[in-house]
Amino acid sequence: MEKGTCRANANIALVKYWGKRDETLMLPQNGSISMTLDGMHTTTTVEFLPSLKADEVTLNDALLADGKEFAQVVEHLNIIREMAKIKTFARVASKNNFPTAAGLASSASGFAALSMAAAKAAGLKLNPQELSMLSRRGSGSASRSIHGGFVEWKRGEKSDGTDSYAQQIAPPSHWPNFRMLTTVVSTSEKKVKSRAGMKQTVETCPLYPGWLSSVNADLDAVRSGIKEKDFHKVGATAEHNCLKMHATMIATNPPIIYWNPATMEIIHLVQVMREEGVPVYFTIDAGPNVKVICQEENMQDIEARLKELSGVKNVHVCKPGGPAETLKEHLF
Ligand code: PMV
Repeated sequence: MEKGTCRANANIALVKYWGKRDETLMLPQNGSISMTLDGMHTTTTVEFLPSLKADEVTLNDALLADGKEFAQVVEHLNIIREMAKIKTFARVASKNNFPTAAGLASSASGFAALSMAAAKAAGLKLNPQELSMLSRRGSGSASRSIHGGFVEWKRGEKSDGTDSYAQQIAPPSHWPNFRMLTTVVSTSEKKVKSRAGMKQTVETCPLYPGWLSSVNADLDAVRSGIKEKDFHKVGATAEHNCLKMHATMIATNPPIIYWNPATMEIIHLVQVMREEGVPVYFTIDAGPNVKVICQEENMQDIEARLKELSGVKNVHVCKPGGPAETLKEHLF
């Protein structure tokens, strides 16, 4: 069997996925919309080798021992082995060019790259829709990283998940001056992973029904805002959507507060800049890092002001990025 190597970009949701209706098939309670980030990617090589007695996985050159992360990769490889009707163990090497598990969407790029590379190595020929559904099984947000530009992951209605996959709304060339500035305020691993955080929210948060009842309007606004290139509509809706999600996180029992003081500093700065007339918004995932949404013409000033904040360690500027792709050069 051949080696498969693929690279997938991370993505950041403008309308968030928060909560599952099926834990095994990773079916979401609500649809979501994201932008794929140019230049923040995971590269993964997979080879199925008859000589191996167990799967062997390295992440950023470190061998993953028995922990949760290793178990998730093995579980995902099992799905692919079942699809390909093989029993062979695999060697997997994966590298991120950004901090892992700090709210910078490494699970999205990671499982998209793993799905595509492993499917190729197993000899499966999957179309983008099938790859999106396979990636979804590893991490919901990974379903969106198969596509470039602006992407919608449909909730779907079916219990077998065959209508829950991501589709492109618009390619990167549609809105080339849209920017996402990912600020790094912490590179440590987050305390509560999204998987556990969303489960706890669905089970214990009294505000969760309110979240669900308002998401479809946000999806309509962001989808049409992207098509019309209406920056205010997209930014304002994305910011409100993110705050509603964090309100549900904070109101779970026990509470989950992903923010730290630097998170709050950035939120305030964005509000101050907006009062000054700068078109700028923010969104935050399950971690303390803030993603600042703006357009190219305002980017340099915004970036400089973010860097002046004491809690900001780094700022990565991302344009809309391309789809997951196969590479000829392997990691081993
Ligand atoms: O699929 P996961 O486990 O990476 O969960 C993603 C959850 C959020 O990042 C908070 C929202 C989203 O839609 O990406």
